Amino acid sequence: MAPQREAPVLLDLTIDNITPNTNRINAQCDDPRLRYLMSRLVTHLHDFARETRLSTDEWMAALNFLVGCGQISSDVRHEFILLSDILGLSLLIDSINHPKPPLSTEGSVLGPFHTHDAPVMPSGGDMSSDPEGEPLLCICTVKDTHGKPIQGVQIDIWETDSSGHYDVQHEGRDEKGPSERCVMESDANGRFWFKGIKPVSYPIPHDGPVGKLLERLGRHCWRPAHLHFMFRKEGLDNLITALYLRGDPYETSDAVFGVKKSLVIHLDKVDKATAEQYDAKEGAWLLKHDFVLVTQEDADRLRDQNATKALEKLGLRMKLVDHLPIPDVD
Ligand code: BEZ
Ligand code: FE
Repeated sequence: MAPQREAPVLLDLTIDNITPNTNRINAQCDDPRLRYLMSRLVTHLHDFARETRLSTDEWMAALNFLVGCGQISSDVRHEFILLSDILGLSLLIDSINHPKPPLSTEGSVLGPFHTHDAPVMPSGGDMSSDPEGEPLLCICTVKDTHGKPIQGVQIDIWETDSSGHYDVQHEGRDEKGPSERCVMESDANGRFWFKGIKPVSYPIPHDGPVGKLLERLGRHCWRPAHLHFMFRKEGLDNLITALYLRGDPYETSDAVFGVKKSLVIHLDKVDKATAEQYDAKEGAWLLKHDFVLVTQEDADRLRDQNATKALEKLGLRMKLVDHLPIPDVD
């Protein structure tokens, strides 16, 4: 239960006392985490307005921008995820929540184009239906941080077609069904392999408010060529990541800040023996990669350690409840 505080008298509020009074009235909330989140949000928002001497017109423009984000959003278009991505917030939140011990595979942005209807395929399956795409064979393993293969990991994989669009960005997706995406499972040796196409760089959707904002900021809207992966298994920390092609013109200027050096890979060519072994085309592109997953327990421990250190640095007296900080008021 929240400590019962007397409700503040909300009268004659000023530039200087509006913040503590807003926080005081919100402090009646009996959820300590929500209370803490709201108090920090109000404090930062109010400071932002005071520090920038925010004008009424600017605030209305910001609110209209948010309305525009809502209006353009749909089942297959999520402008608020895009906004979070271009502000660097998605990457920041992923890094806080999925800390990686050395040598484990780093995370990257999820983006708005993962779906839950990808076909389940056995290893060797071809997830591409794009005749224009350059064929790619991917041979991968999933291991733990001790190098032991992990069986039974569910892996979602998705990429654009050769025109740089995800299936959901095309008209008629409902009738045609999913393409350039699949779900598979690692075998007893932690292996999975599949066929797709060589990824291409593409612009994030930029015909809406987020695109206009990028333009005003003098930023481009391109992502370097990549393939998305999501790994899930009970007892393991979910890994959402992507592999990026070395040499892409946008390798060091990704519009959504997703690239990490350890995720930049080089493509080879499939030789005759590999083509025969994997029923692939000789001369197709070849991607080989070993992914390293972290246990849920290790990720939780590391996240708690990082949180404790960060909060101490901020001079805050906090405790962790369910791995989330709340003020330590006892
Ligand atoms: C993507 O890689 O699919 C993506 C990520 C962020 C924004 C838009 C697209
Ligand atoms: Fe993508």
